[in-house]
Amino acid sequence: MFEVEIRGQASNSTIKTIIVTQADLKKTILELLQEHKIPVASSCMGEGICEKCIINDSVLGCLKLVSAIESWQSKVITIAYL
Ligand code: FES
Repeated sequence: MFEVEIRGQASNSTIKTIIVTQADLKKTILELLQEHKIPVASSCMGEGICEKCIINDSVLGCLKLVSAIESWQSKVITIAYL
């Protein structure tokens, strides 16, 4: 298990801290955020087309697995419009 900080760029604040479990690792980051009631935009149902689910400036949350976060030096997900 590890913690991920969800930061809103527009509000310049921490929205939430999520504790990621083993079961979360196979989910996409978009799924994780939606399960934790973080209002992430998405209009293509996670098919990688709409680009509304962008996190950390350039990563599509719907195409990136939660397991990838484990190797991030800073475990922070930044969402521009929050
Ligand atoms: S939800 Fe549309 S690109 Fe990710």
